[in-house]
Amino acid sequence: MSETPLASPPRASSPPAGSKPARGVLLRTAIPGPEAQKVIARDQKYLMTVTKTEPIVAASGQGVWITDVDGNRLLDFAAGISVLNVGHSHPDVVRAIRDQAGILQHFAGTDFYYDLQVRLAEKLTQITPGTFAKKIFFSNSGTESAEAALKIARWNRRRPITIGLLGAFHGRSMGSLSMTASKPVQRARYAPFVNGGHHIPAPTCYRCPYKLEYPSCDLYCAKILKELYFETSIPPDDVAAFIAEGVMGEGGYFVPPKGWHQVIKSTLDEHGILFIDDEVQSGMGRTGRWFAIEHTGVTPDILTMAKAVGGGIPMGAVAMRADLDLGTGAHSNTFGGNLIASAASIATIGVIEREGLLHNATTQGDYLMQRLHELQSRTDEIGDVRGIGLMVATDFVKDRRTKEPAVQFRDRVLVEAYRRGLILLGCGKSAIRYIPPLIVQREEIDEAVEIVDAAISAARAGA
Ligand SMILES: Cc1ncc(COP(=O)(O)O)c(C=O)c1O
Repeated sequence: MSETPLASPPRASSPPAGSKPARGVLLRTAIPGPEAQKVIARDQKYLMTVTKTEPIVAASGQGVWITDVDGNRLLDFAAGISVLNVGHSHPDVVRAIRDQAGILQHFAGTDFYYDLQVRLAEKLTQITPGTFAKKIFFSNSGTESAEAALKIARWNRRRPITIGLLGAFHGRSMGSLSMTASKPVQRARYAPFVNGGHHIPAPTCYRCPYKLEYPSCDLYCAKILKELYFETSIPPDDVAAFIAEGVMGEGGYFVPPKGWHQVIKSTLDEHGILFIDDEVQSGMGRTGRWFAIEHTGVTPDILTMAKAVGGGIPMGAVAMRADLDLGTGAHSNTFGGNLIASAASIATIGVIEREGLLHNATTQGDYLMQRLHELQSRTDEIGDVRGIGLMVATDFVKDRRTKEPAVQFRDRVLVEAYRRGLILLGCGKSAIRYIPPLIVQREEIDEAVEIVDAAISAARAGA
């Protein structure tokens, strides 16, 4: 017996899709307000514990704005973890979902055929890097895309080893988790993992694992794969794939230094090792290009995507060299390329193209970086500002010289920010990421940076 009728969740009035969103943070209650507290209490009773850290209870969203169940209007610089790249409830995406729901919702696209799915696949082969023939596999999430990519590599190469990076996040199902090395809590109690996973230190220049400096390091972190690992512990001809994120996301928004990808890729090519580029977080325009790897000039053999590709509907995809295609029955699923998800995805890609969102991600991203650098110049606790396009982070430190992570301070800033109406997420050990929808405008960036500034002062005062 349900204690509350399912059809009556607490709601703030939401504007009709397509109407102009009201702007500016508006706080009617403390966060969480009374209605939010009721939902949180019930959530804690009925939902399994996952990763929730912030007591924000959304009722509706439009553009870069979320209205919560108490009628507060909040500025969303988390975008559903880089999912709402075209903003909340974009009218074109809403229309595509509604229309498709009334035509045909699902028809098992792995067993039968859909024109919509083919159109989307064709489009994805065009926007992913590489001029060679490509094929697409549709999944439902990032972890499922990673699983598929790892299986495609193993199936093709018939080799047992996969190499990834320390700090990387590829998902939480057993195959992807075996290559995830972001936080011990994500792996604790789950061993044994899928066999054959190895990790090497990542190119995290601000906190270089070798305490070297770019460029005098001569890309030691890339060369070490060939010069040390392949000479000692990892037989290169047993390696099927190397997997890395376009820009390391959960691990702390580290952009690899120029040249890192070239050195790694040429080492992989010497041994026929496939390069899997995980663009689940960094893809779909987030960095100002369709996929972050495009900034490097290196072309992956297999590319994984999810999050923003469905414009808010669960959707993932793997793009691969066509010659890596599998045999019938070797891999499949039920919902991959679901029609509503495919319609939402086609609409999302259309919005990114028509509204020039790659360009906006670049120009607004530059502006955001500039504003955060200004903030850093008067904030000792901000040790580093890094990122690319609208995939930006500030790293909080106890001391700029030692770079000791200021974990608790970062956590306090997050709390003070949402109390002031700005939705943010942490990443890495002591960083905050800034990932607004790609439609974000200057005045919203100004408002966000002012709130972060105030949140830092409040975090200091409360220390
Ligand atoms: C780079 C990357 N890969 C894979 C995943 C897993 O995606 P999902 O949560 O949809 O399984 C994530 C999720 O944050 C991610 O950031």
